[in-house]
Order: sequence, then C-alpha cells, then structure tokens
Amino acid sequence: MTDTAHPAGPDLEKGLLEADLPGEGMLVGHVKDEPVLLARQGGDIFAIGAACTHYGGPLGEGLLAGDTVRCPWHHACFSLRTGEALAAPALAPVSCWRVERRDGRIFVHEKMAEAAGRTAPSSGSAGAHMVIIGGGAAGHAAALTLRREGFAGAVSIISADQVAPYDRPNLSKDYLAGEAPEDWLPLAGTDSYAENKIELQLGVTVTEIDLPGRRVILQNGTALNYSKLLIATGAEPIRLSVPGADLPHVRTLRSLADSRQIIARAKEGSRAVIIGASFIGLEAAAALRHRGVEVHVVAPEAHPMERVFGAAMGDFIRELHESHGVEFHLGHTVTGIDTGHAQLDDGTRIAADIVLAGIGVRPRLDLAEKAGLAMERGVLVDQYLETSAADVFAAGDIARWPDPYSGERLRVEHWVVAQRQGQTAARNMLGKREPYRAVPFFWTQQYDIAIDYLGHATTWDRIAQDGDPAAQDVALRFYKDGRVMAFATIFRGKESLKAEFEMERGRSP
Ligand SMILES: Cc1cc2nc3c(=O)[nH]c(=O)nc-3n(C[C@H](O)[C@H](O)[C@H](O)COP(=O)(O)OP(=O)(O)OC[C@H]3O[C@@H](n4cnc5c(N)ncnc54)[C@H](O)[C@@H]3O)c2cc1C
Ligand code: FES
Repeated sequence: MTDTAHPAGPDLEKGLLEADLPGEGMLVGHVKDEPVLLARQGGDIFAIGAACTHYGGPLGEGLLAGDTVRCPWHHACFSLRTGEALAAPALAPVSCWRVERRDGRIFVHEKMAEAAGRTAPSSGSAGAHMVIIGGGAAGHAAALTLRREGFAGAVSIISADQVAPYDRPNLSKDYLAGEAPEDWLPLAGTDSYAENKIELQLGVTVTEIDLPGRRVILQNGTALNYSKLLIATGAEPIRLSVPGADLPHVRTLRSLADSRQIIARAKEGSRAVIIGASFIGLEAAAALRHRGVEVHVVAPEAHPMERVFGAAMGDFIRELHESHGVEFHLGHTVTGIDTGHAQLDDGTRIAADIVLAGIGVRPRLDLAEKAGLAMERGVLVDQYLETSAADVFAAGDIARWPDPYSGERLRVEHWVVAQRQGQTAARNMLGKREPYRAVPFFWTQQYDIAIDYLGHATTWDRIAQDGDPAAQDVALRFYKDGRVMAFATIFRGKESLKAEFEMERGRSP
C-alpha cells in the first residue's frame, strides 16, 4: 500500500522536526488514514482530529486561540487539551492522540480514550429532574450539556415536534436542494438519547408552567415536576393573511414536515412564488432553483436583505440570484392567491404551483407569558439566562439577554446562538453561574456563497467595505458611533474568527 491512500500532510507517527511546527501555530498531517491537527500552544504540543465534528470543516484553516481551535466554517470551538466541543454548532468532541517529544522531533502515537465529559458524574444530583421544554437547537444542546457536565439525575425533553431534534438550518439549504439525504438531519443518533438517559417525549405539547408548584402540565393533563426548568420553545412562522392563504400549496418553512411538503411539490419545471426576500426565502429560492423549479421572489423592500447587510450587499445578493434565473418583484406585495396564481399589488399574476411565505417568525412566548415571567418582546433573562423566576431558564429564539458587546438586550433567531445558550443555560442549571458572553453569529448559504455575520446591528452610521462581494471576497464593518457593531464576510473564515475573538473581549474588530 502506498502513502497516497493517506490524507495529506506528514505522517505524524514517523515524527517531524520540532522546528517544522511553527511557534503558536498549527499543521495538519495524518496518523494512518485519519487527518490530525498538530498545534503548539505555550510550551505544549497537542494532536487532535483535524475535521470539525459539525460538518467536517478544516480545523487547520481555523483560528488557534489559547488552548482552543475554532472552525472556519461555522465557528465551533474545540479544546486542544481534551478535544471537547466547547462551543456549538459542533456538539461532539474530536479525538485526541498521545504526543511524544524526543531528540528534537515530535511523534504522534495512539489515540487516547475519549473524555467521558468535562466533569465526573455529580453525586448530589440523583433525585433532581431537569425538564426542558422544546426539542430544537437550544433544548437539545442543553440536554447533551447536562450529561457532558456529569449531571446524573433525570433529564426530560418535551417536544411538540414529531421527530427527534434535527438540523433546522439544513431544511432550507442542502436538504431542500436535494443535496443532503434525510439521515444527515438528526442532531444525534436514535440510540443516543437512551444511552445518555435523556427522556425524549415527542409530539407532546406543554400547556402550562405552574411556577409555585414547580411543575409543567402536558396536553394530556399529566404533570411533570422539575427541579430546574429550561424553556426553549423557539419561534413559528408568521402566516399570510391574504385571500387564498389557506390553500394547500401555500406553505411556510420551519419544520422537517414543512420542508418535506415543499419538496413533494418541487418538481422540475414547477413554479414557485416566494414571498419575502429574507434568509429563509432566499435560501429556499436557491435550493428550489437547484431542483429546476422556476422561482419568483416578491418582497416590499428595494434591495433584498437590506436591513441586515445594507443596500450594496443586497444588490449583490439580487444579482447572484438573477444569475441563477430567479426573477424578483421588489417593491411589491402579494394581495391574493388562487390555485394556480399569486396576484401582486400592481395586478400582475404569476403562475404558482408553490407559494412559500418567508415573511418572518414570531417567538413562541405564550407559556412564559401565562406563567407570569417578566417579558420584553421576548422572555427576559439575566446574564446567566435565568428568567425572573428562580430555577427557570430560557434560551434560543425566545430569550432576550443582556449582550455584553453591544450593551443592549438582544433577542435574535440564530442557530448557533440558540445552541450556545442551551449549553450555558444547562451549566447554570447545575449552579455554575457562567455568564453568557458569546457574540451572536449566523451564516447563510445561497448557491456556492456563504455569508458569515457576527454581532448585531439594526442601524449603522456607515458600512466600511474591504474587498468585493462579486469576487467572493469581502468584509463589511457596520459602524455605529465609531464602533463596529457587526461584521459580515464572504469566504474570509479566519478573519471572521479573529473578529469574533476580539468582540468576545469587548474590542471593536
Ligand atoms: C429553514 C430554516 C433555516 C434556518 N437557517 C439558519 C441558518 O442558516 N443560520 C442560523 O443562524 N439560523 C438559521 N435558522 C434559525 C434557527 O433554526 C433558529 O434560530 C433555531 O432553531 C432556534 O432554536 P430554538 O431552540 O430556540 O427553537 P427551535 O429550534 O425552533 O425549537 C423549538 C422547539 O420547541 C418545541 N415547542 C414549542 N412549543 C412547545 C410546547 N408548548 N411544548 C413542547 N414543545 C414545544 C418545538 O416543537 C421545537 O421542538 C433557520 C431556521 C429555519 C426555520
Ligand atoms: S463545520 Fe465546523 S462549525 Fe460547521
């Protein structure tokens, strides 16, 4: 057998000169057929898996920051010492290998046993019951974190979804495009809930939170006592309110069932009208074009995504879609729908086999509201993600938290934010008093373009552009009062990671 069967880079079992590993640097080689990242930090050298456990991102092209490495694709963070996934969207650790330094050379030997978690099982947790309402990004990450932190008591996820937690962002991207099979979507293997002793109640709605009684009431009347409670009920799509909005070919996109239904109608040559030039609408437009569907986008604004990225980037996004055959009807709204058409406010009729309303979401707040928790266009939480009621936490799309970088209270609808809040909330349910400091981050994928966005800016004084979106190489800084409030990039993964690192420390990148 020749070396060509192995991944690229030096064979680390055979060793390499210490001088070949840059000071405070990284290098990717292999051990047998596995790519391994060798990293020097301080006086130590570490060897960990080189592929991110989220979607296989190349950690060697990421950022070495202290004793962690961050993935250039969606900003997951791994410990060099233990391989642990410290920050979502990766939830599983990477492997670690034993390193030996001898005679000025570095040798990587056998793989070490996977760390069971970051903490030994806690003995005092035996009678405790952690209840999580919601089996989405935040709820799933919280349950997993409770176990990885060594919590030995009962953990229950109550989810109105019919299926186990899945990768929601994929529903408007590769899965909708037909590029990702459905078995990529689950966030964990079917056995892993039982293995981790996480009780997963699917298709079950919580109808009430009884704060004084420390219990939640399920739709069948059953009550479930909790020691600590996490509310992570997410958001639901806003429905259209025009004549014909209840016709069967008028859809929204939030759940796996929604995505399946759209796919069932998205035959080559069929026609889709997408209402809203938002993330969901435009990602769906790209995915449906990939299936050969004729796509029209109708939206009231002059430039797609202008409120997030500004007009110039909005125009780039429009041109990107137009170059793939999408037709825009900007400055217009849909006033009515019948079985074969959508009608615009100027009287235009567009043939439509599918009408997809991507006109925003509304956080699901009724449970928290009815329970009497403090609200402010979301569930108010403190820096530990605890609500106004002791031992009751909230995370994800519903939570409005104090963001240290902006100094504002934010509520955003981002996958990574929801997962990281789930992780932090879980640690605080265990009494760790860990403030939530992560800088908001999201990405969007449209055709072969991925845009990363850090921070949060609803208004700005100016946008500084470095590079050119048309060349697929740009960084945009959104300034307010001389400070960068948000940072958007196309194909500048490392720069985005560095900016995140700076913003976490309160510094304007
Ligand atoms: C198609 C699509 C694509 C997206 N793409 C991206 C992206 O590329 N990048 C990005 O950053 N973000 C993206 N998002 C947003 C991201 O998915 C959300 O911000 C994230 O899922 C929020 O997580 P959550 O845990 O708060 O809520 P969710 O993931 O929505 O989970 C909420 C859960 O609560 C359950 N629930 C609600 N009410 C009850 C109740 N009363 N009783 C029991 N269970 C209940 C629901 O059934 C669900 O399981 C996308 C969203 C969609 C829909
Ligand atoms: S592939 Fe690494 S964070 Fe997504």
